[in-house]
This record gives sequence, structure tokens and C-alpha cells, in this order.
Amino acid sequence: MSKARFLVAVALCAALTIATSASSVPVRAQKGIVASQSEIASRIGADVIKDGGTAVDAAVATAFALAVTHPTAGNIGGGGFIVYRPATGDAVTYDFREKAPAKASPTMWLENGQYSAERHHNSHLAVGVPGTVAGLHLAWKEQGKLPWKRLVDPAVALARDGFVVSDNLARSLKNVQRTMQKYPASVAAFTKSGVPYEAGETLKQPDLARTLERIATQGPAGFYEGETAALVEKEMLAHGGLITREDMKNYSAVRRAPVKGTYRGYEIIAMPPPSSGGVALLQMLGMLEKRDVGSLGVNSAAKIHLFAEVMRRAFRDRAEYLGDPDFVHVPVAPLLEPKYLEKSMSTFDPARATPSTALPPADMPPHESSETTQFSVIDGQGNAISVTYTLNGLWGNGVTVAGAGFLLNNEMDDFTSKVGVRNGYGLLQGESNAVAPHKRPLSSMTPTIVLKDGQPFLVTGSPGGPTIINTVLLVITNVIDFHMSVTQAVDTPRFHHQWQPDVINHEPFFTSADTVALLEKQGHTLRLRRLYQNSPEAEGGTWGDAESILIDPKTKMRLGAHDLRSPDSAAVGW
Ligand code: DON
Repeated sequence: MSKARFLVAVALCAALTIATSASSVPVRAQKGIVASQSEIASRIGADVIKDGGTAVDAAVATAFALAVTHPTAGNIGGGGFIVYRPATGDAVTYDFREKAPAKASPTMWLENGQYSAERHHNSHLAVGVPGTVAGLHLAWKEQGKLPWKRLVDPAVALARDGFVVSDNLARSLKNVQRTMQKYPASVAAFTKSGVPYEAGETLKQPDLARTLERIATQGPAGFYEGETAALVEKEMLAHGGLITREDMKNYSAVRRAPVKGTYRGYEIIAMPPPSSGGVALLQMLGMLEKRDVGSLGVNSAAKIHLFAEVMRRAFRDRAEYLGDPDFVHVPVAPLLEPKYLEKSMSTFDPARATPSTALPPADMPPHESSETTQFSVIDGQGNAISVTYTLNGLWGNGVTVAGAGFLLNNEMDDFTSKVGVRNGYGLLQGESNAVAPHKRPLSSMTPTIVLKDGQPFLVTGSPGGPTIINTVLLVITNVIDFHMSVTQAVDTPRFHHQWQPDVINHEPFFTSADTVALLEKQGHTLRLRRLYQNSPEAEGGTWGDAESILIDPKTKMRLGAHDLRSPDSAAVGW
């Protein structure tokens, strides 16, 4: 896949067309809701809750179902994060981010001594050791109730017996054809002998069904050992990849304490490193807290200016300080210190944009000693879970493991390519995120749970590469500062600044022409959805998919919002 195609693929993953012009109202339910990018998967999750399963059980079943019905991003060949807040007890997170294989090295993406973006973004050298199966199993082992097999079986049946291809999936399958052409196993799995599936036809995935069956009966060993691991190793050997059976066997998911903060009295529970999302989100909320955001108006020039400046500062710190905490020291507490955030905002000028190049380097207090998809679930007891997992690019690399039927990620793209060289999302990143054996690449995925008076209030998150963090910020502030309903908060047009490039990207209809003129006068550059550099094809669309649930604090009614940008998505409750 060429770099341009990779960029388009990633853009499409993050940017799905709006399904209808009609506005939506939240789905209301008393006992539980599952909101995901696939109606079939949301129903499977909701059925688990009906059968007496917990929110974690429902999330596991939804995740496996998405790997079948939403193969663009739902996966067993990728990785991600879970934020879980039980009705009673402490919140936890599960990190099942992919890991670099043992043979990874800083020179792995060099071709004739030169850095090769193609190798880094698209080849078998872009694949990290998958974490999804281990992560779902760890969360289930610690928090689940129903038998594991009961949760994987619906996905086995879907893969074996097939499901009806939607118009959206048919279009996506057509778009990915060219990329998949060089991989016979992908052509076999996702076309009718080279002919694209049409909407309304049935897609069966027999190899995937057998892999899922092994996972259903053997647990993680059915994926990380035996036949599946051998097939992964064979795939790698045949195409110059590095992942071995040993890498598969050595993979483990990790439970980590969440990062926590408050915003106007609400408690925010978010993902710690190797996600950059939680830290950046809490930094931005911290910078906004002392300002009266609500009085500024939803997408006024003053609000967009303030938010762009806050985003700019958080993304600068992301590039400088964040990485895998198992490998580099990440100064989480100092980055969240109110005094540090205040100092960061001391250069904020309400009348002028601060050029990113003029932003002073982060001045840290001394260290203390020492395509993606999102779904949200809440059950009747009030256990809440937010899951974001991914293959990175839309359809990952387009590589299906021959004989095993699942797509591989190209997550190694999230490592710093070379200081000063942008990755697939246009992000400049630092040494803290340099590749090393067994290291996890820094992520922007931001699954988040917001509490009000100690009770779950909002469960949210999104795909979209670096835009994820700002999408979550906008959804939360839309609800808390502007008192929007959960559907309004999700559907309102978005904007995004990531420090470098020094641009405010925005969705269509996000504000008025005279507001844009005001912002330009202040020194901002605005661009209609250029998600990242060098992707002119990506102009004119939308991004993200914030499948979210809000719980009415008074009535406890669960209100589910599927994102209008995602045609196959649905919030299903009962
Ligand atoms: O972890 C990250 O930040 C990226 N790999 C996420 C990719 C993504 O959201 C693409 N989806 N639309």
C-alpha cells in the first residue's frame, strides 16, 4: 500500500460518512446499553446482559462480534485499552496494546540506510504482537461472570454462518480491494474470488471461525500458542516480518491503575500511558477549568481559540514526555499539577494564536522520586466499561494471516519513526516513544468514564488517531459546559489541533464563515478536515465515532448515543 493509500485508509477509518440527515435521540433503557459501531455486535452484547452477564461479559462478547462484523477495526489481530468502573470497588484499566517483537530495533524500518515510511506503515514490519485476546481474557477473568465460551460462541457462529453485508461495509470492502490484492489470504477472506461483495450478500469467514473456535475452547492459548501462533509465525517468515511463536507466547496484557482527575466537580477516569489520551485529556480539562467555557457559546471564535490553545499545549507535552511506562519514565503527576498547567497557560493570549514554534518548551517541575473502534457498555447494576481497540489503519495492513482468517494491525506506525519525521497521522514524536523490543507504542486511544457524585455519568471514547483525544474532550465539555444531550454532544461538528502541524482541522458545518474570519485574524490557520498532512483526498469529511452512554443522575435511565457518522452503529438497550 502506498503512503497516500495508507493515509486515505486511515482517514476513512476515522471518518465515516453521516448515515442520515436526521438528528437522533438517545436510546433509552433501564437495565443496560451497549453502543458500538455494529448493530449486530451491540445486540450480541445486550443479549449477554439479558442472560445475567456483567458489563465486562457484554464487552467481551461485543469485541469478538466486532472482529467479525466490523473487520475494518474490530479485531483479534490488534490491541487496545479498557477502562472499567465497577458499581462497587475501584476503577481499573486493562492495557492490551500490541508490543514490538523481540527482534525489533531502531534500524528495522531502514531500507538501504534510509528510513522507509512504507516499511514502517504498511509492511509486515509494521505489525505489533496482538494484544486483544489476552486483554479481553484478563478483564473477563477478573471481572466476568458468564462462561468464556458463551461470550466467544456468538462470534464463532457469525464467522461460520456469515452475516449480511451492509452498504457501508460493501463500500469499504471495495475501497480496500487494491491494498488487499497482494495478499491472497485477504482476497480469499474478503472477496468472492476477487469479485467484491455487494450489500445484501452474506460474508462467511470460515478460517476466522476456526480461529475463534480455538479461542472459545482453549482461551488465550488458542491464539498465542499452537496452530494460531504457528500460522502467525509462518505469515511473518513468508513476508519478512519479525513476530515469532515465542513473541506470541510471551505476550501478556496488564492491569494498570487509571489516571484520575476532576472537572467542575465531575470525576474523570481515564487510560494511563502507554495511552497519551488520559494524561492529555486531564491536562486540557485542567487548563479549561478556571475559565467560564459555558458562557463562550458552543463553537464561537473565543471557544475555538481557547480550546485550540489548550490542545496545542497538551500535544506538545505528549510529544516530549509520553511513552511506554514500562520503558521510560513518564512524569504523569507533574504533568497534571495545577501549577504546571497554569504555567503552561501563562503564554495564552485571548486575542492571538500562539504559533506552535513560539511555544516555549515544556518546563517540567522536578520529577517525583522516583481505524480503531470504540464501544461503551453499562449494565443494570451500574458496572460501566469503555473499550477502544484497533488495527491502527482501516483494515490494519490489509494483511490476513493465511489459514487463520484474521487481519493484522500496523500499530508499529505509532512508534516515533525518527525524531523530526511525522508518522502516518502527521504526529511529531520524541525519543520516549522510540521503538525497542517488547515495548508498546504510544497511543491516543482515550476510553473514559465520567462520574457524578460517585455514580457513573458518561461512558465515552472514539477512534480517529490523535483526533481521539480532542473528540473525547469535546464530548465531555459539550455535556458538562453546554448541557447538551448525549446525542447532541456526540453529533456536534468537531475540530482538532495537535501542536504540529500548526493548524485547526475541522469537520464541515462546524462554525460560521465570520467566525472563521475572526480566528484567521487572530493568527490561526483553519482547514476543512485535513486530518493529518499530505492527505488532500481526506478533505471534506468527518472523523471519529464516539459511541457513548449517559446515565441520567436523577432517574438512572441509561441514554445511549450511536454516532451519526457511523452508518452501521447502534446503541441497543433493554
Ligand atoms: O493508538 C492510536 O493512537 C492509533 N493507532 C489509533 C488509530 C485509529 O484511531 C484509527 N482509526 N480510526
